[in-house]
Amino acid sequence: MLSNAPSNAWYPLTWSRNVERKLSRHKVLGIDLVVYRTEAGQPVAMDDVCPHRLAPLSLGKLKDDAIQCGYHGMTFGSDGRCIRVPGQPQIPASAKVTSYPLRERMGLVWIWPGDPARADTGQIYDLPQYHSKQWHSAEGDALSIDANYLNLADNLCDPAHVSFVHLSTLGSAASEDIPVEHTASDDRVVVWRWIRNSPAIPLFAKYGNFKGPVDRWHYYHYTAPCIAVIDFGSSDAALAIDPDQRDDGMRIFACHFITPVDEHHCIDHWLHVRNFALDDLNVDQRLHDDFRVAFNEDKDILEEIDRVERARPDAKRIRLAIDAAPQKMRRIVDHMIAGNSPSPIAAE
Ligand code: FES
Ligand SMILES: [Fe+2]
Repeated sequence: MLSNAPSNAWYPLTWSRNVERKLSRHKVLGIDLVVYRTEAGQPVAMDDVCPHRLAPLSLGKLKDDAIQCGYHGMTFGSDGRCIRVPGQPQIPASAKVTSYPLRERMGLVWIWPGDPARADTGQIYDLPQYHSKQWHSAEGDALSIDANYLNLADNLCDPAHVSFVHLSTLGSAASEDIPVEHTASDDRVVVWRWIRNSPAIPLFAKYGNFKGPVDRWHYYHYTAPCIAVIDFGSSDAALAIDPDQRDDGMRIFACHFITPVDEHHCIDHWLHVRNFALDDLNVDQRLHDDFRVAFNEDKDILEEIDRVERARPDAKRIRLAIDAAPQKMRRIVDHMIAGNSPSPIAAE
């Protein structure tokens, strides 16, 4: 189990399209899983270990909706219960594999690694615009990053890095000194800033046909422990829109659904939802080319930080004003790990 991830939470496991009528291997919170889809279309994830001699079940065969171990043929149903032991009529009471609660939402399979009695599907993240005809969504990549998932979550509560890391795509030097604001509640952090009356960033300059300066915004919505949705966009500065008029501008939700794989590895499943060029699939590709550049810039820096953290486990960090939101994010996760008790963060 991963030490800094709460087990009682929903995590993205993989894209729905990756779960098929065959056995595949995945890992979440350090747990090796065998994953497949039943004939009726339900995804299944079980511990990838046979309780007999510990052979990975992913080396076995899918027989109807059950897995037959590849070593001596013990067979387990999708609920993890053993249904056959070749060579003996009795099935030992303990012959069972853990099978995890799963649900599909927003094109992903979500897994609850903790106490199944607490797996409330109402808690799985959803973005209403993803389902709306006024918006268009497109799946991106599963970006594998050699870093702890909380270092990526730090990055996704931190609009200040954009002015330095993403100058060719998402940022511009005009925002370097603009402070960020934030709010926090029991399981969420929102961090934002507006950059008024400044040149369009490269990405919106391409699609927006803006004639002059723009007002642009970044709202980073973090939902503990593994979801970050970045609402960003631009509007003609002459219109001077209010924050609640963001739909009048060009608006994108860049969704990052993070799979914590183990202490030093996570997967960023990213997709975007936008309110312009709804029918233009070329824009999907061109936006994704830009996002790929940007998110790989984050990957590069996070992997280097992971390397330094391993080399210098006792290194101290100094705290800056821009770190307030990431620090609250980490405290929310700590509260969840301590037992999912409501945190007092909102009252601070
Ligand atoms: S190891 Fe699976 S049946 Fe023997
Ligand atoms: Fe970034």
